[in-house]
Amino acid sequence: MEWNTIDWIDLVLRWFHIMAGISWIGGSLYLLWLDRIFANPDRATRGEKGEPWLIDLAGSLLVDKLGLGPDGMAKTHIWFKRETLLTWISGLLLLVMLAHLPGGGLLLDADGKPLNAPIATAMIAALLLLGWLLYDYLWRMPLNRMTLLPVILSLAIFVIVVWGVAQIFSGRALFILMGAVLGTLMMGNIWFRLLPALKEMMEARQEGRPADEVLCAHAKVRSNHSSYLIFPTVVLMISNHYPVLYSHHLNWLVLAVLVVAFILVRHLVVSEKAGLWALGLALVGLALSIAIIAAVKAPPGRVDKAPVDFTEVRAIVSKHCLRCHSTVPSDPNFGPTPGGVAFDQPEDIKRHAPRIKVRAVDTLTMPNKDGRGHEVTITYAERKLLGRWVDAGAKLE
Ligand code: HEC
Repeated sequence: MEWNTIDWIDLVLRWFHIMAGISWIGGSLYLLWLDRIFANPDRATRGEKGEPWLIDLAGSLLVDKLGLGPDGMAKTHIWFKRETLLTWISGLLLLVMLAHLPGGGLLLDADGKPLNAPIATAMIAALLLLGWLLYDYLWRMPLNRMTLLPVILSLAIFVIVVWGVAQIFSGRALFILMGAVLGTLMMGNIWFRLLPALKEMMEARQEGRPADEVLCAHAKVRSNHSSYLIFPTVVLMISNHYPVLYSHHLNWLVLAVLVVAFILVRHLVVSEKAGLWALGLALVGLALSIAIIAAVKAPPGRVDKAPVDFTEVRAIVSKHCLRCHSTVPSDPNFGPTPGGVAFDQPEDIKRHAPRIKVRAVDTLTMPNKDGRGHEVTITYAERKLLGRWVDAGAKLE
């Protein structure tokens, strides 16, 4: 099996992105857990302030919270900020790779046709930048006026944006792009709202004055938001492995419902007070997603019952699939019958018809790019024809 340089870069970058994300999220969840312990002295095993005792092989560790006055200043602080930035930057590089590699699938429209690359790239950049600016603007309003309104407003705008992006980009791109939007909000919250507030707190302590309350209160809200966004963002980022989520015309609705459901899961995991109602609602969200997916038929425009000549289908499969999917493949990279599938005989093609539809028509994940990064040359019309043949009953005449 042969790999080219791009595959190695892809592997290392993905590994880096996931490792940086784990460090970031792990640190955040640990801090949230500490927050909860300090807020609830009953849970502590010892100490008046409710210090948690941890155990590791070095022995028992005592975690203590120092007061806010100047004498409560620790000499050094660990900021946990690089992980966030590195996750975001590596994510951005992955987006660039997905946009420009054959088979990457980011710059495709909802029907699988290639988009104009410079325009689509500009739209993605605008989505990330304007997404942050809008969100930041919305949540800079005075906190004392805040009730449920900004939450509902944010969710409503999010759903509208998701719908809009789904009209332009493929389902696979939609999930990744919205994951990138949420990731950008979290990164922005930490770098532009939380870190300045922490710096202000430190300076205020050094100067013996009270810290800017408004700044700190806003930072607390943003930090809270980020802790909620972690949960749905991870779901969106792994969604690419589950074409059933995105390969239909109501993918935007499934995405929106899943995001809300996983925000509720965060509530259940981290909040002391969240009861079974959060779990119940999250499960309702999950059930709703399953119901939506079950209810969607093939997207309008893709259903065409006119019979298709099998010779045409066989020609397309021979041209675009057979070099890998054969007992004697001409492409040496994947060995014979990759994925257990060969298309040497007409009966083989018929037997695998439903999966051909899924991989080559609905999710655009086949043909695969090969080890040498060969261009995927199958056309939109050819994919459509394969889909029509399967829809019309996959007949061999
Ligand atoms: C460059 C090699 C290559 C080409 C060309 C290619 N495939 Fe594949 N295919 C693979 C590999 C590798 C796997 C196994 C890994 C996977 O499932 O992604 C696979 C798996 C599959 C599977 C089985 C897995 C499943 O989801 O059921 C189907 C069906 C499939 N391909 C259909 C097609 C069709 C249809 C074409 C042509 C339009 C095609 N492939 C072209 C390499 C290729």
